[in-house]
Parts: sequence; structure tokens; C-alpha cells
Amino acid sequence: MTKQFISFLSLLLILFSCSLTEQKTKKGLTAKAGMVVSAHPLASEVGIGILKNGGNAVDAAIAVQFALAVVYPVAGNIGGGGFMVYRSNRGESYTLDYREAAPGKAHRNMYIGENNIVIKNLSTRGQLAAGVPGVIDGMVKAYEQFGTLSWEDLIMPAIALAEDGFPLSSREALGLNNNKENFLEYNTVTPENVIRDKWKEGDIIYYKDLAETLRRIRDNGRAGFYAGKTADLIVAEMERGKGWITHKDLADYEAKWRKPVIIDYKGYKIVSMPPPSSGGIALAQLLESVEPYDLTSLGWHAVENIHLIVEAERRVYADRAAHLGDPDYYNVPAALLTDPEYNQNRMSDFDPGMATPSDEIFAGQFLTESEQTTHFSIVDNDRNAVAVTTTLNGAYGSKVFVAGAGFILNNEMDDFSIKPGFANMYGLTGGEANAIEPGKRMLSSMTPAIVAKDGKLFMVVGSPGGSTIITSVFQNIINVVDYGMGMQESVEAGRYHHQWKPDMIMFEKNTLDSITIRQLLKMGHKFYERESIGRVDAILVLADGTLEGGADPRGDDTAVGY
Ligand code: GLY
Repeated sequence: MTKQFISFLSLLLILFSCSLTEQKTKKGLTAKAGMVVSAHPLASEVGIGILKNGGNAVDAAIAVQFALAVVYPVAGNIGGGGFMVYRSNRGESYTLDYREAAPGKAHRNMYIGENNIVIKNLSTRGQLAAGVPGVIDGMVKAYEQFGTLSWEDLIMPAIALAEDGFPLSSREALGLNNNKENFLEYNTVTPENVIRDKWKEGDIIYYKDLAETLRRIRDNGRAGFYAGKTADLIVAEMERGKGWITHKDLADYEAKWRKPVIIDYKGYKIVSMPPPSSGGIALAQLLESVEPYDLTSLGWHAVENIHLIVEAERRVYADRAAHLGDPDYYNVPAALLTDPEYNQNRMSDFDPGMATPSDEIFAGQFLTESEQTTHFSIVDNDRNAVAVTTTLNGAYGSKVFVAGAGFILNNEMDDFSIKPGFANMYGLTGGEANAIEPGKRMLSSMTPAIVAKDGKLFMVVGSPGGSTIITSVFQNIINVVDYGMGMQESVEAGRYHHQWKPDMIMFEKNTLDSITIRQLLKMGHKFYERESIGRVDAILVLADGTLEGGADPRGDDTAVGY
């Protein structure tokens, strides 16, 4: 897309953008004892059942991760990866990395064909797009460290859903219908249970092979996935579909406890993920960049405020592209990037009256797929808290079901920088820090976060949305901290996003009024209107200790409490 065309689009926006819709102040579900907010009502119910049976927040998180793999296969998974942030009621925090890893045969040019051209769809569809899944070892490690109920109790609800079937929501029915051709094209063995002429809301779907896989994990733990029959089925899938994951890759995979990123912002302490997620560091950079400014008096979604935040985002995402990758393979300058002085220096050339152009505008790097990751937030009766963001990457990942095992493989390899400067499905670019290497973990934007105030739990938050995850989490933190919004009100509030390249402010329909857009255009900003940004599921601890859920109405997301 040319600069002229983008300006033309921007002009159209001035002419046609509708006026700011009224911000409805909505209160979320409140509960005294415990709460689960996830992308699917059945998964939230599973989590709350665990809490009611005396399980803690980590027990519930493990059960929700398994349940989402059944009822929300667009992003919930056992064939992908994720990150867990855990804060105990004593204030200790832990971050668990169960991100996928590149197979042993992987190399930096694996998706590049003749004439140095990236081969279309190779890093996003099919068996070669998959990294070695991390979820099962992640769940096992979380359970070994913090679980209290029996392992079997945590998996049984997911097995029952897969075996007995459950009714599809209209969104999930549409997702399966829209992906029917992809499932037929990219599977070596047709996944008959998900193929139908047309699914509709309320139809019962069964995942019998997945139920069997879950039983093997129930009975054998880690070995139920990375060895034995499940591993054989994964490797057979790879051999049929020319993928590269081997028995050795599966046996070698290890989830890792990492040192959390801790951010101080206006008296709040925020814990989030370190690399291989960019989320925690980028969130720290954004908060540190804007902390010297009085956001409250600038006004929510006011011109000066949006300009300031966008300029901070532009600088932070430029750093992300250059400096962030798997810390086991690349020396990430984490201390420097999270130093408040560094971030305030980065803002020293910030011009309050004019946009700083990003070096280059990318042509047409708009999102072509939904950004299907999923996040859930849990608080238990003792005020232990868990934030988990987990992903297959794109909607239904690689579109490949492991034949006989019934779960979908991720297409996370696309989160590597598959060629320097080449934009991935989120329009993100990267370089050496995130180049493909055997065993390396691809850079993520997932930003599960837990906020504390005066040593007490304050908020649990996170979102799907690829590159927009970081700014969605950031906006929800400032919505509550700087603008005093409640949790549901904050989750429902309109969002915008800038990621350095492409050089434009993406914004949700009806979020910015035409006057605001016009003023920002005059300052040199460009705009792109989108349907929705992120899908935040969050919990806020109110002043009297009650929990308020924020379940994002952009999806089927549901808060359940007791
Ligand atoms: N696959 C999206 C992310 O990890 O950021």
C-alpha cells in the first residue's frame, strides 16, 4: 500500500468516522471468594469447580488450560505454548515459560526459497510451521511446584468435555465453518469430527481422540505426551506432512521457570513475563516512558494523550524488533531496556506537536488473520493469583490436527524473524535476536501480568492479540490506575495500537471521534480502523476485597465467581 493510499484512507476516515460512542460504564461480575475469567464459559466453570473443591489458583489454571484445549480449539491448546505468571498471597512471584521451541533440524533459511523469497504459507500453515509444543511440560512443572489437588482431578473435566461432547457457541461454529477448507487442505488424515457441511450454534461436537490423548497425559504425566503413543503419533504426522519435529525434539523439551520482570509504576508493582516474551520488557518500557506525564489530566483518549502514548509505543516496538529474542540464545539487554532513565531518554526527542515518522512505511502489512491467542485470569480464596496467556499463534494454529491424537499443532515458527525485515502475520519485523536456531524459542508478545499495591493483590490481566497484546495490557493498566475505571468498564473501553511499523495508529471502530482523528492527522499520524483489538480477561480487587471480573465482550469470554 502506498503512502498516498494510506493518506487517502486517512482522509476517508475524517469524512466518515462516526462520532465517539458513549462509554457505557458497566460493572463486571463480583464475587467474594474466587474468580476465573476465560475465553469460554465452560472453561471458566471448570476452573471455578476446582477452586470450590479446595484447589488453589494454579490447580484451577491447569484445569482451565486443559479445558480450553477442548472447548476453545481456536487458541486453547495442548499443541502450543504459553506463559504463566503466578503471585502467591505472600507476595512471591514466579514466571513459567512453556513457549514452543524450534525443532533440532530448524535453520534460519528454512522458509526461504529460490531468489531469497519467503515461501508463502510455509511458516504459517501445515506441519513445518509447528514448534515443539510446550504446554504439557509447562502444566507438569506448574503442578509439581504448586499443585495441591490430584493431577487426575485437574484433567478429568477436560476429558469429560472431549468424550461426552459440548454445544458449540455461534462464534466457534463460525470458526470451524470458516476453516473447513484449511482443515481439508492441510491435514494428511481428514479430522472427521470437525468437518461438517455447516456447524451451527448448539451443535454438539466430540473430540474422542483428544480424550484418549488426555487420558495418556492423566496416567503418565509428561511421558503421556513427549513419549509413547502420543509422541509416535506426532512424529508420524510430521513424516506424512514433511514437518521436522522428532522424538528427540519432544524428549528434549523443557518448560523453564524464569526470573520475572518487575515494574514499578506510580506506586504499583507489576509482575510480567521476561523473554522469550517481549511482553514484560515492552510493558515496562511503555509505563516508564509515560510515567513522568500526568495522564489523568491529559484526559482519556484526548489528542495529547494518544499522541504521547503512540510516540512511546513507536519507540518501544522499534526496540522490540532489534533487541528481543530467546535469552538462552541471544544476549537480551534486559536491564538497559527496563531502566527508567533509558526510556525517558528515548522520549527526549518526543515532540508534543508532531508525530515522529517511523523510518519506513510497510506496504499492506495489515492483519490478515485473527490473532488467536487466549488469556485467562484466576484468583483463589487465599488471594493467590494466576495470569496465563497461551497460544497456537494463528486461529487453529497450523490447521493440522495430529491424526489419532486429536489436537491441533501450533504455527508458532512464524513468530521467529523468518527473514530480516520480513513482516510476520502481525506485521512485526525482527533481526538477529529472533533468528531461527535449533531449540530456540520464538519471540512472543504475550503479556500476562499481575499488579499489586501496598503488598496486596490488585489486578490480574492479559490478552490475546499478537503484537497488540502489549498495548492492550498497557491500556487496561492505565485505564484502572490513571483513570479510575472499574474492571469491566476498562475491558470494554475502546483500544488503539501503534507498533512502529507499519507507521499507523490502528484503532477499534467507534473508539476515536472524528475531531480527535483530524487533529492527530494534522500532527502527522496515520490511521487504520479495525474491528477489534485484543480480548482482555482480567480481575480487579476492589477496595473492600471483593473481586470484580472483566470479561471481554469482544468474544464469548465469561467471568465466573463464587
Ligand atoms: N503468537 C503470538 C505471540 O506469542 O505473541
